[in-house]
Amino acid sequence: MDKVRIFEVGPRDGLQNEKEFIQTEDKVELISLLAGSGLSYIEATSFVNPKWIPQLADAADVVRLLPQADGVSYSALVPNAKGLQGAIHAGLKEVAVFMSASEAHNKKNINKTILETFPTLGEVVQEALSHGMRVRGYVSTVFGCPYEGEVALESVVRVTEELFKMGVYEVSLGDTIGVATPKQVKERLKALAGLFPKEQLAGHFHDTRGTGLANVYASLEIGLRNFDSAIGGLGGCPYAPGASGNISTEDLVYMLEGMGLSTGVQLQELVKAGAFIRNRLGRALPSKVLSAMAGSV
Ligand code: HMG
Ligand code: MG
Repeated sequence: MDKVRIFEVGPRDGLQNEKEFIQTEDKVELISLLAGSGLSYIEATSFVNPKWIPQLADAADVVRLLPQADGVSYSALVPNAKGLQGAIHAGLKEVAVFMSASEAHNKKNINKTILETFPTLGEVVQEALSHGMRVRGYVSTVFGCPYEGEVALESVVRVTEELFKMGVYEVSLGDTIGVATPKQVKERLKALAGLFPKEQLAGHFHDTRGTGLANVYASLEIGLRNFDSAIGGLGGCPYAPGASGNISTEDLVYMLEGMGLSTGVQLQELVKAGAFIRNRLGRALPSKVLSAMAGSV
């Protein structure tokens, strides 16, 4: 059966925007439930300035307490050498670097111009690789920027190319503020898949305007088989006003499995993870499948 790899970003992208601090043990319990559902790639946290992202200030503790499960890889976002040192010290074997295709979002998010970011990330990737780590790359604002509006395809190509040159194994293409629609997704991904191996590209869609799963479908038609999603449909980038949740992992798994694509994830178990974090947060979450199934798990 055709396989799709899901990269769970709920504990990082999902939680980073939550105002009230979630206890470290609850984060670890969530990750444990996610790993138990069959997800093999989980972004557990980020090693960024805690003044910028207070919710993930406990990154080192979360990593220290991660459940070690066979076949599960954990990763964390790192913006610079300090973040990488934190991740290495905590014992991670994989990290992700990130930057934007638009100047204004890059500046707001990591306080650097795009040109200034290349050498910083280049050094981070080199150092991580020299420690035998795997490094993933993110490009944000691929389909639109909250500050600049349209983003030129050339900017996306340039940043993607630089990340691959640095040595990342995959580039995740972010619709940071959930503005993309399937036609644009197809056009943009077709162009990118003509320049880079599509096996090394991932789709990272936010469902801010309800087009997230349709954009996954459009990406599947271009041949992408790697997607990021967040449990419950949690999420958003604090430096992208109006950016709400990532596509929900429950909804993504339901759709893919229904289409005959294998994800390796047990939906019933996944819904338990969604119900857990929904109960901890004390409010309904955007995931439709979670709402439909939570009563039955
Ligand atoms: P800066 O202020 O320019 O950093 O921030 P700096 O190097 O001038 O240092 C200032 C202070 O930050 C110093 O502390 C450093 O030690 C500290 P002080 O001396 O003032 O006490 N510092 C750090 N502390 C902990 N960990 C670190 C670190 N680095 C410096 N790694 C910086 C630059 C990049 C650090 C900051 O802008 C930052 O932390 N940004 C992170 C923003 C973020 O996490 N955004 C959300 C994630 S991206 C996203 O969601 C998009 C994505 O999902 C894809 C998509 O949807 O498109 C990935
Ligand atoms: Mg995101």
